[in-house]
Amino acid sequence: MDTKKILELGAVTGICLGHAAIGKPLMSVYCYHVDGLLIDTSSANNRRALSEVLQERIIDRIALTHYHEDHAGNAAYLQRLKTVPVVGHILSNQILSQGVALRPYEYLMWGGLQKLNILDVGEVLETEHYRFQVLHTPGHSIDHVVYHEEKEGWLFSGDMFLGPRIKYFRRDECLYTTINSLNRIAQLSFDTLFCGHNPQSRGAMASICKKRDNLIELYAKVEDARNKGYQQAEIEKHLCKGRERFWVKLITLGDVSFKNMVRSALHSLDRGDTVQTLINA
Ligand SMILES: [Fe+2]
Repeated sequence: MDTKKILELGAVTGICLGHAAIGKPLMSVYCYHVDGLLIDTSSANNRRALSEVLQERIIDRIALTHYHEDHAGNAAYLQRLKTVPVVGHILSNQILSQGVALRPYEYLMWGGLQKLNILDVGEVLETEHYRFQVLHTPGHSIDHVVYHEEKEGWLFSGDMFLGPRIKYFRRDECLYTTINSLNRIAQLSFDTLFCGHNPQSRGAMASICKKRDNLIELYAKVEDARNKGYQQAEIEKHLCKGRERFWVKLITLGDVSFKNMVRSALHSLDRGDTVQTLINA
C-alpha cells in the first residue's frame, strides 16, 4: 500500500510518502520543496509517487540532511533526471560515493540506495528568496546537517527531532553527540520544524527542548547507575525493563533498540563524557 500526503506550509511544500508491500506503511517520510530547492529525496520505493509530485515543479538544487536511505534514496535518480547538483555535508559525500550496504530491513522498508557524488554544501545555502544557514548536527548520523532559515523561522531538521520521546536508536547513533547537537539547535531561532517524519508547525522550539531534556534525563540515569558501581549488563537490564519494543528489535535483527541508547551512553561515559561536560559544552 502506498500513501501520499501533500502539506502546504506557506512557501514550503512537504511531500509525505509511504510504502509497504503488505498493509500500511510502518513509517512515512517527508521531503520538502521550497524556492527551487528540494530538501531530501524520500526513499527509493517511493520513487514513482515522488516523480509524479515533482513533475510540474522546478528544481534547481537538491540538499540532503544525511545519507540514510529514506532521505537520500532518490538523490542519484533525481541528479540524473533533473540534471541538478546535489549538496550535503562532506561526510555524506564520503559515505554516498563509496556506497552503503543496507541491512535487509532497511532495504525492505525503504528500497535501495545508489552511489553518488555530491558537493560540499558549505556553511550557507542561498536560493532566490531565502538564505539557509547550514549547521552540522551529528549524533543520529555522523554527517547530519540541518538547514536554518532565520528570517522565516524555519528549521529543516532531517532526523534530529522525530518526536519528544525517542524510543530507540540505530546501533551507530550517539546519545551524547545527539544531545550536544540539540543544544546547539536550541540556540537558533525558529517556529516551524520541517522534520523528516514529524513536522511541527507550532511549538517547534519547545518540542526540540523536550526531546533534549528527555535524552539528558536518560543519560543522567545511566551515569548515576554507573557511578553506583553497576555493571553494563545490570544497567541495561534495569533501564531497558518495559521500554524495549521487541517487534522493532526483531524486524531489525537488533540494529534498532532502546538498549542501543543505553549502550551509547555507557560508551560515552567510558570516554569521560558526563552530564556535567554536556552542560559545560
Ligand atoms: Fe535518518
